[in-house]
Amino acid sequence: MKFKSVEHVRTELESADYICSRTIATVVFLAQATQKPVLVEGPAGVGKTELSKAVAQSLQRPLIRLQCYEGLDESKALYEWEYAKQLLYTQMVKEKIDDVIAGAGSLSEAVDRIASQEDAFFSERFIQPRPLLQAIAAPEPVVLLIDEVDKSDPEFEAFLLEVLSDFQISIPELGTRKAVNIPFVFLTSNDSRDMSDALKRRCIHLYIDYPERDLELAIIKLKIPQIKQRLAGQLIDTIHKIRNLDLKKKPCISETLDWAQSLISLQVEDLSAEKVRDTLNVICKYRADLEQVKEKMEKIIN
Ligand SMILES: Nc1ncnc2c1ncn2[C@@H]1O[C@H](COP(=O)(O)OP(=O)(O)OP(=O)(O)O)[C@@H](O)[C@H]1O
Ligand SMILES: [Mg+2]
Repeated sequence: MKFKSVEHVRTELESADYICSRTIATVVFLAQATQKPVLVEGPAGVGKTELSKAVAQSLQRPLIRLQCYEGLDESKALYEWEYAKQLLYTQMVKEKIDDVIAGAGSLSEAVDRIASQEDAFFSERFIQPRPLLQAIAAPEPVVLLIDEVDKSDPEFEAFLLEVLSDFQISIPELGTRKAVNIPFVFLTSNDSRDMSDALKRRCIHLYIDYPERDLELAIIKLKIPQIKQRLAGQLIDTIHKIRNLDLKKKPCISETLDWAQSLISLQVEDLSAEKVRDTLNVICKYRADLEQVKEKMEKIIN
C-alpha cells in the first residue's frame, strides 16, 4: 500500500483511528515521496508516537520501535553477540574443539587453529538483532519509530545520523548490511533538548501542537463515540481555556479523552464549575496547577 495523495493520508489514518490536520498529512505524504525521516516534536501527549503507529497500520507495515533513553548505546540499538549461546555451543562441541587443537605444538598454534574456525561462532546464528538492524535487514518494508530521541546522548545522535543517511550497517565479522527497502522513519522528541542541526537537516520537521478545537472534537468523537455533542463541546472549550493558563503541565489529548470518559461514567450531561472542580484530578497532575485552575474557575466556565 502507498498513499496516493495528502487527502488519502488523512482518510487512511482516520481508518487507523488517528485524526490528523492537513499539515500532518502533508508531511507524511512528502516523507513517503522523498523517503526522508520525519522528526516529530511537540509537547507530551499530542499524538507523536501514535502517528507512526497509525502510519504503520495504514501501510500494513510492521512497526519496529527503538525506545531511546540516557545511556542507550550502539549495541542495544544495532546488534549484540549472544555470548551465553556462544559459550553453550562451545561446551557442546568441546570434543570437536579438542580435535581441532589435537597435536598443536604450542599454545599459540592451538589459538591459531581455533581462530581459523571462528567464523562458526561469529555467524548469523549468534547475532541478536536490535531495532536498527531489524529495520535494515527486514525483507519487507517497515516503519521504524525512534521514540524520544531527545533522551539519548548526543554521541548516540551522531551515530544515528550515519545510519539514517545511508541505511547501511557494517558488522565487522559479517560484512555490510544495506536496507533492501528504505524504512519509513519517525523520530519523536519532547523538547527536553534541542536536536542537532545535522539531524534536523536530514529530516522533514513536524511540530505537533495541541490540536485546534475541531480537530480535538473529532478525536473525542472517534475515540468515545457515545459522548453527546453538547458535553463534548463544553469539555473542549474548558480544556482549551485551561491550556491557556500558565500551568506546569498542560492537559494533553489523552487527558481530554480520560476526562470525557470520567464524565460519562459519572453520568454528567452538562459541565458546570462544580463538576469541573470534582473531576479536575483527571486533567491536572500537579497540585499548583490544580489550585490555579480552581482559583480561575470563573474564567474557565460560567
Ligand atoms: N490525532 C490523534 N487522533 C487520535 N488519537 C490521538 C491523536 N493524538 C493523540 N491521540 C491520543 O492521545 C494518546 C497520546 O498520544 P501519544 O502517546 O502519541 O502522545 P505523545 O505525543 O507520543 O506523548 P509523549 O511525548 O508523552 O510520548 C494516544 O494514545 C491517543 O489515544
Ligand atoms: Mg510518545
